[in-house]
Amino acid sequence: MSEPDKQPAAGAMPASSSRMAAAGALVRHFTLDGIANPPAGRFRRLAGLLDTAAMLGNSEALTARCGRVLSVRQNSVIIAGLSTWCGLGDLVSVGSGASAWRAQIIAANPDTVTAKPMTANVNAKVGDPVQLLGPVVLRPSAAWKGRVLDALGEPLDDGGPVAPGGEAFDPYRPAPDAMKRARITRGAATGVRALDLFVPVCHGQRIGIFGGAGTGKSQLLSLLVNSHGFDTVVVGLIGERGREVREFVEDRLGESGKNATVIASTGDEAPSMRILAANTAMLAAEYFRDRGDSVLLIIDSLTRFAHAVREVGLAAGEMPVVRGHTTLLYSSLSNLLERAGPGEGSGTITGIFSVLVDGDDHNEPVADAVRGILDGHVVLDRSIAAMGRFPAIDIPMSLSRLSDIALDKSRRQLVREARRLIATYEQADEMRRLGGYVPGADEFVDTALALVPQIYAALSQDDNTGLPGARDPFEWLEGIVSSARTPPQGVVAGQERRPPAPAAGK
Ligand SMILES: Nc1ncnc2c1ncn2[C@@H]1O[C@H](COP(=O)(O)OP(=O)(O)OP(=O)(O)O)[C@@H](O)[C@H]1O
Ligand SMILES: [Mg+2]
Repeated sequence: MSEPDKQPAAGAMPASSSRMAAAGALVRHFTLDGIANPPAGRFRRLAGLLDTAAMLGNSEALTARCGRVLSVRQNSVIIAGLSTWCGLGDLVSVGSGASAWRAQIIAANPDTVTAKPMTANVNAKVGDPVQLLGPVVLRPSAAWKGRVLDALGEPLDDGGPVAPGGEAFDPYRPAPDAMKRARITRGAATGVRALDLFVPVCHGQRIGIFGGAGTGKSQLLSLLVNSHGFDTVVVGLIGERGREVREFVEDRLGESGKNATVIASTGDEAPSMRILAANTAMLAAEYFRDRGDSVLLIIDSLTRFAHAVREVGLAAGEMPVVRGHTTLLYSSLSNLLERAGPGEGSGTITGIFSVLVDGDDHNEPVADAVRGILDGHVVLDRSIAAMGRFPAIDIPMSLSRLSDIALDKSRRQLVREARRLIATYEQADEMRRLGGYVPGADEFVDTALALVPQIYAALSQDDNTGLPGARDPFEWLEGIVSSARTPPQGVVAGQERRPPAPAAGK
C-alpha cells in the first residue's frame, strides 16, 4: 500500500497506534472526570498522565478533548465541557464503544455547545461522554471515479474500500479567489437538444433546473449525465428517495458510470449529512477540476439541501425569516454554488442544479435565491409534462446568461428567430383553441402555428440518441426557420409588421 493509502478516508484524526490509543484513553479519562473545576488533587493526576503520555511518545493524544451530554432534544444534544475547544462544523463522538455516534457542532456558547447528529437515529442520554474529533476532513482521490459514496466519502456500493488521496481537504472550503479564476470561454454540447439550442451551457457555467414535483427534473439530469462533452461527472443525490439512488446508478448512469462519482445522502439521513453530502460532491468536483478536468457537477436537489440547512439553522437557534428559512439559507447557497465554475487553471466545473419549486410557485424563497446566484435557468412546466412532451422545458421562460459565449453570431440570430416563432405560437395557440384567432389573419402567426409543433417534436427526447440521420440540431433548425423567412432575404421573419396577405381570411 502506498504512503497516502495509509491515511483514513475521512474523519478528524489519523488512525491511532496502540500506544497512542493508550495515552489518549488516559487523557480522556482525566478530562471526562474533571470537566467542572477539577479539584487540586486532579492536577497531580494530570501531571502523572502527562508524564505517561510523554513517555509513550505521543504528543497528539494530549490534545484529545472531552465533554458530557448536558441535555437531549429531539434533533440535537447540548454538550458541556467543549466550548473553548471546538469550532462550528467540528465533529464529536457521543457515547462510547460500539454505540458511539457522530454529531456536528452547529452552535457554541460560553458554557455549552449544540451538536446535531450525523446519523438519523440517535440514542443519547444525559451524562454520556463526548469526544471532540475536530473538523471534518476528506481525502478525495482518483479512486472516487466510478464509485457511489456517502457524505464522508465512505463506499455505499459493493466495490470495497476506496483508496484515499494524499491530501486532506475541508469539504466546506471557500470558492476560489474571484480575480484569479479563469474566464468562461467555450460552449459545451450536452446532447439535450432543447438546451443546446435554446439554453446553451458553457464549460464553467452554473445553471438551475426549476420545476414542480414530478415535472421531470431528475430525468433531464440523467440525460445530462450522459453528455459526451465532459471528462468527469460528479453527481450529488441530496435528500432523494432511497429507491431513486439505486435506479439512478443502475439505470441512468449508463456509459458515464466509469467516469462518474456519485455522492448520495438520502432523505432519511440526518440534515447535517445532507448538507455535508452537497459539499462533498462539490469537493470531488473541485478535486478533478484542479487536475485540469472539465467536470460536470449535477446536484439533485438543491431544495432538499436548503431544507436541511433550514433544519440545522432552526436547531442552532437562528430566527426564521421567510417560510421557516433562516438567513443561513442565503449564505449556504451562495457559499456552495460560488465554488462551481472555472478554477485558476484550465479545469472547469459546469454545475447543473435541480430546484424543486414548492407548490409550482417560482417565486418561493429557495427558487428565488438560487435564480439570483446562477448564470441561467431552465423552467420545467407541468402543463407541458401533462401533454407528454419531455423534457418539459418552457422555452420562452428559460434562458442562459452566457449564450453569447456559447453561440456564434449566426447561431444566436437563428435562435432569436426560432424563439420569436415559439413565443408567437404560445400566444396564438391558446387564442386559436378558444376560437379567438382566425387562420389567415396574420401570415407570421400562421407560420408559427405550422412550424413550432415540428420544433417541439424534434426537441422531445428520452435518451441521448440524436436526430434521425445524425443531423446537427442547428442545421435542422435552420431548415425549419428558413421557411418562415420572407423575401427579401436577411429580413427576420415577423420583425417587420407586414400587411395581411391578399389571401387573408381564406
Ligand atoms: N424524458 C422523459 N421521457 C418520458 N417520460 C418522462 C421524461 N421525463 C420525465 N418523465 C416522466 O415524469 C415522471 C417524473 O419524472 P422525474 O422523477 O424526473 O420528476 P422530478 O421532477 O425529478 O420529480 P420529483 O420532484 O419528485 O423529484 C417520470 O416518472 C416519467 O414518467
Ligand atoms: Mg427528482
